[in-house]
Amino acid sequence: MENRPSVRIGVVGYGHLGKFLAEKILRDGRALGLTLAFVWNRNPEKLKGSVPAELVLSDLSVLRRRCDVIVEVCHPQIVEEFGPRFLARSHFMVGSPSALSNPDLNEKLRQAAQQYGHTLYVPSGALWGGQDIQRMNDSGTLKALFIRMSKHPSCFRLTGDILSDWAEGEGRRVLFRGSVAELCSLAPNNVNTMAAAAVAAGALGFTGVQGEIVSDTELSDFHVVEVEVTGPDGFSVHTVRRNPARLGAVTGSATYNSFWNSLLGELPAAPLAALSVFNPRL
Ligand SMILES: NC(=O)c1ccc[n+]([C@@H]2O[C@H](COP(=O)([O-])OP(=O)(O)OC[C@H]3O[C@@H](n4cnc5c(N)ncnc54)[C@H](O)[C@@H]3O)[C@@H](O)[C@H]2O)c1
Repeated sequence: MENRPSVRIGVVGYGHLGKFLAEKILRDGRALGLTLAFVWNRNPEKLKGSVPAELVLSDLSVLRRRCDVIVEVCHPQIVEEFGPRFLARSHFMVGSPSALSNPDLNEKLRQAAQQYGHTLYVPSGALWGGQDIQRMNDSGTLKALFIRMSKHPSCFRLTGDILSDWAEGEGRRVLFRGSVAELCSLAPNNVNTMAAAAVAAGALGFTGVQGEIVSDTELSDFHVVEVEVTGPDGFSVHTVRRNPARLGAVTGSATYNSFWNSLLGELPAAPLAALSVFNPRL
């Protein structure tokens, strides 16, 4: 570990995930060969007292610091605005992969990765079996993929008002069933796991992978993520993941560690835990 050069990580966004990642790199990174290169947040006041002043980046469009991986944990808008510029400088992990449901942006990012010889990564998030799905996709045996995410209504952040009238005790309600592309615009903060699945299942893509979001007032302690994979000759896999989550939490607690493990996959010589969208060197 001592002989390995440190991997310099830039964190873009300092909400729940950004704070978790930055604190963990500062605390545990040295032993793992990770160094915090910078942290950027829309409101830099939030970083005071938590992030050393010399690591605070004030202007995202002036990126002069040496950095090996930039991790976006902010908003799909930032992926759109800065993603190609990030890829010009370093590898890029897209924490808000619902942004990739925009086909133009998806293509732009792939082209930038190709042009600059960098890799675009998507963390596995709460997706179980992402790498198996990717292997089936790559071998041409993936026929269909369906993901259902069920959560307490207080855990959804929807762009429309289909859930504005929920009442405690109402039980289960299917909010939407359709393609992941449609779900990404309806619930961009809730369907990152589905977006990661659409990346793993690239041949089906955002329009081919199907999903469903379900509100369930019984789910006060867990988010439930079900994945149904269909292959040839009757092959199928159905997984059910119960992800502990507080009431109102958009992100399940196990997803934080999953995110961290995806980042550790960036270490040279470590197995890749993130789903690689495009790596020109592979
Ligand atoms: N890939 C996954 O599995 C996964 C899991 C959880 C969250 N996410 C995504 O990661 C991102 C961060 O999640 P979080 O839980 O830390 O969210 P959060 O709301 O706690 O933090 C988001 C941060 O980004 C800032 N922000 C919001 N909109 C912005 C904009 N348009 N421009 C600049 N800054 C903006 C906020 O001020 C905040 O500091 C979100 O997009 C979320 O959907 C992905």
